Amino acid sequence: MVVSSAPGKVYLFGEHAVVYGEPAVPCAIERRARVTVEERDDDALRVQATDLSLDGFTVEYSGESSDRPDIDVPESLVDAAIGYVDAAAAQARDAADRPDAGFDITIESEIPLGAGLGSSAAVVVAGIDAGTRELGVELSAREIAERAYRVEHDVQDGQASRADTFCSAVGGAVRIEGDDCHAIRDVPNLPFVIGYDGGAGDTGELVAGVRALKDEYDFAADTVSAIGDVVRQGERALQAGDLEELGQLMDFNHGLLEALGVSSRSLDEMVWAARESDALGAKLTGAGGGGCIVALDESEEARTALSYTPGCEETFRAELDTDGVRVEEGA
Ligand code: MEV
Repeated sequence: MVVSSAPGKVYLFGEHAVVYGEPAVPCAIERRARVTVEERDDDALRVQATDLSLDGFTVEYSGESSDRPDIDVPESLVDAAIGYVDAAAAQARDAADRPDAGFDITIESEIPLGAGLGSSAAVVVAGIDAGTRELGVELSAREIAERAYRVEHDVQDGQASRADTFCSAVGGAVRIEGDDCHAIRDVPNLPFVIGYDGGAGDTGELVAGVRALKDEYDFAADTVSAIGDVVRQGERALQAGDLEELGQLMDFNHGLLEALGVSSRSLDEMVWAARESDALGAKLTGAGGGGCIVALDESEEARTALSYTPGCEETFRAELDTDGVRVEEGA
């Protein structure tokens, strides 16, 4: 039996635009998904998931047939969750050249599902690491990132960047531009505050919506390029440790995402609550549609303001996690 864990993330800048080759800067946070994998003596896959912001579900299946867990979340999210685990198991079998290996998989996650904190990437990254190690193969963080990217790419119908999976595999703050992925060194302390509306967005649908807008209107395509400009300016502010400018650029980035139609009333309300308190800036994080915002605030003001904001279900501070995927037990 092997237990591996991998972190979730927030986007300091650049979600959506990164799908079209613009740069993005996601940062790993100290909220993790833990995946336990034990090889079975048949070729079946048994998945047990607790605390995915779902009520906990168990699915047992082999090959193509699968039962759907009986839980109260959109079916597309459950299908996606199962699709991710299934594809992660396939990657582990492929890496170990053991096409018939079966697994008992248990997932525990502190990262809400579909909320913009990279839950699926963390589960896939930790799952591939635990699965391959259980079969006696050790992959580097970069190899795991590459295989996890292939999973997200397939499950999201070809509409995924390398940002979530690379960030979860290597940890810390990273820069993604197309295939070029690397860690950003000497990042200043970033006082992240998260607001969570308890909801979720459908990444595939939201990405497809932006693509359609961009294909129809030149000004939407210009908005995507403008996000790229914000990211490049944001990288300079990050290197200079200028938190004031970072906050201002986060506000700008949120405005552009809103223009692309991926924000929501509750995300906007949380962004405004954070801005009207002492936060240096605030934006949605991830695909949008619902889920989380990230604000930059050294004081407790933004958290207090968010805790009184109707529509904000939970607020917490998130520390940058410099560890990527790691083994917790076994191997
Ligand atoms: C989703 O967490 C981030 C998006 O940019 C999609 C992707 O990069 O794959 C919306």
